[in-house]
Amino acid sequence: MEGSDKALSYSRVELIDFEGVPLVHFITDSWENIKNFQARPDDILIATYPKAGTTWVSYILDLLYFGNTSSERQTSLPIYLRVPFLEANIPKMPSGVELADKLSTTPRLIKTHLPVQLVPKSFWEQNCRVVYVARNAKDNAVSYYHFDRMNMIAPEPGDWNTYLQRFMDGRTMYGPWYDHVRGYWEKKQTYTNLHYMFFEDMVEDTGREVEHLCSFLGLSTSTEERKRITKGTHFDAMKQNNMTNYSTVPVMDFKISPFMRKGKVGDWKNHFTVAQNEQFDKHYKQKMKSTTLQFRTQI
Ligand code: A3P
Repeated sequence: MEGSDKALSYSRVELIDFEGVPLVHFITDSWENIKNFQARPDDILIATYPKAGTTWVSYILDLLYFGNTSSERQTSLPIYLRVPFLEANIPKMPSGVELADKLSTTPRLIKTHLPVQLVPKSFWEQNCRVVYVARNAKDNAVSYYHFDRMNMIAPEPGDWNTYLQRFMDGRTMYGPWYDHVRGYWEKKQTYTNLHYMFFEDMVEDTGREVEHLCSFLGLSTSTEERKRITKGTHFDAMKQNNMTNYSTVPVMDFKISPFMRKGKVGDWKNHFTVAQNEQFDKHYKQKMKSTTLQFRTQI
């Protein structure tokens, strides 16, 4: 079966409230396993609100640690198997916890979209390094909308106007963007092993961001090596690469929208009407008034 035909055999799910966060039963059904996940001190947790650049930073980390190991890893192991998605528990696929438990690499790179308060406590107890990537709310909403249209197990997105309202109300999977980005930002004030990155900075100067990441991780890489990684993780290269473009995942229908869609800062301008933008800005100001966290909606 082609990817899109396979995607048709999945069905969309409803959001359910879980400890005040909208999640789906795939996650809550196996919550005990997720909550009790045993992190190791050298694990690296990649945490993001969905569509903030998770795959991009995952691939950068994968190349930093394992880019010079077996070429088989680079040619035949998709990114979602190299970097397990901790809370994923999708039918007919191994769960994130199972994949992470089986990982033989050191460090283990593990991805999550869980808001900070739901991250399994062993990550904090083990003082694991956490790489958080945040993306401005407007582009994040647009990207999430297109993703929910093509991800056949996501809750039904409805039309753009309905979706935007839901995003503002925090009724998308993983809850309010506002709480997510602020939750990790606040955590960083007391938890020093957290590196907070911005999608916009990565687009502006990937090489600089890779360098900052390396100093956080204590990795000494040569300028050449960093250049190679920056080139290999460019949007066009990742879009062409079947190991990073999600073309091997059955639940996504690329006929609706590709996973590697645009990779730009400012695509929101092609989606927001003037009225939507005004309403969004007003609401945003209110939601983000008591934080030092700043985003760029254009570069
Ligand atoms: P768009 O939908 O705006 O194109 P995630 O990996 O968290 O699901 O995020 C996916 C978003 O990151 C998509 O955004 C995707 O195109 C973008 N992205 C992934 N890799 C990228 C890269 N190398 N450069 C720029 N954007 C990238």
